[in-house]
Amino acid sequence: MNSTPSLNFDFQKNPKAIDDTKRENFLKNPGFGKIFTDHMLQIKYTNGTGWTDGKIIPYGPISLDPAVCLFHYGQEIFEGLKAYKTQDGHITLFRPLTNAKRFYNSALRMAMAPLPEAIFLKAVEEFVKVEKNWVPDSSVGSLYLRPFMISSTPYLGVKPSPDYIFMIIASPAGAYFSKDNEGVSVWVSEFYTRAASGGTGEAKCGGNYAASLIAQQEATKNNCDQIVFLDAAEHQWIEEMGGMNIFFVFDDGSLLTPPLSGTILPGITRDSILTLARDKGIKVREERYSVHQWIEDIKSGKIREVFACGTAAVVTPIGQVKSSRGEFNINGGKPGTLTQEIRKALVDIQYGRSADPYHWVHKVI
Ligand code: PLP
Ligand code: COI
Repeated sequence: MNSTPSLNFDFQKNPKAIDDTKRENFLKNPGFGKIFTDHMLQIKYTNGTGWTDGKIIPYGPISLDPAVCLFHYGQEIFEGLKAYKTQDGHITLFRPLTNAKRFYNSALRMAMAPLPEAIFLKAVEEFVKVEKNWVPDSSVGSLYLRPFMISSTPYLGVKPSPDYIFMIIASPAGAYFSKDNEGVSVWVSEFYTRAASGGTGEAKCGGNYAASLIAQQEATKNNCDQIVFLDAAEHQWIEEMGGMNIFFVFDDGSLLTPPLSGTILPGITRDSILTLARDKGIKVREERYSVHQWIEDIKSGKIREVFACGTAAVVTPIGQVKSSRGEFNINGGKPGTLTQEIRKALVDIQYGRSADPYHWVHKVI
């Protein structure tokens, strides 16, 4: 049986760590996912021994046998969460145990060794403590954390790898979209789909994103920022976006988001917004919504606002939708009132600017 020791992390300081002035300059305008911190965290999993060899070491390339399953059959999963600097100087995480649970479920779906949630949480905490100086001020953004796991046994037979490497890297993050406060444009993918029933849509595995890139290319060709996927069976029910969930705001002030049918990612931001909206007394539906109805409702004025949500994108207004049926502006292409209200309610909790009745904020330092 595999044992799960209570892991400690050996620390090897990076002798080439970026100096304070350079880092502070990076932190003024980090963009998204372009700069990485000085260290990375690693834990090994070996069948028979379990999770061992936890360490935080200098950030750098890793060496892998070219035969590992990762390179051939794509056995890989990842997560995305952020560390925030609060006004009173603490470093916090937002619902990290929910990421730990989703990572566990993604591992099961991909026939990988599930990392115990307590180890996930401890790893993230220890890593954030080491990289605390990389968390930007709240006026700029947050530190985006990317835990991931790869299969590491060299073997070309198609079967689950017995060995894995879990890692965390981090990147200071500003806005995901350069114009995220204005309103982004989306292209409806009428041919390519992201996930089918029984597939891997609700797991956060790299393959889902690889499969989405051709649709994202189509969006870019049509001068759109992002892609909206429809269901794989009928090509009409709105599912989600390349890396975000989607919400619709109607003229009666109610909200609708597609249900968790097994083909979309159960977003933590999505779930938080559902809770916040219900507690504000907003009528919320988790129901199927077709692209045809969406366009009819934009034309008739029944749709007031649409927004995307996710860890990277936070809450981003959608100002324009394009498809083979034409182009439509939503709310004159501008962010709507409810979108802005929901974004503020969420980020105020995340940055410790308002009360946290849900105990979502997890203090690290
Ligand atoms: N959908 C997809 C495909 C995503 O990649 C993400 C981002 O993680 C989301 C939705 C939103 O999930 P979360 O709010 O947990 O970041
Ligand atoms: C996230 O929001 O964490 C995502 O994973 C979206 C994208 C950067 C892949």
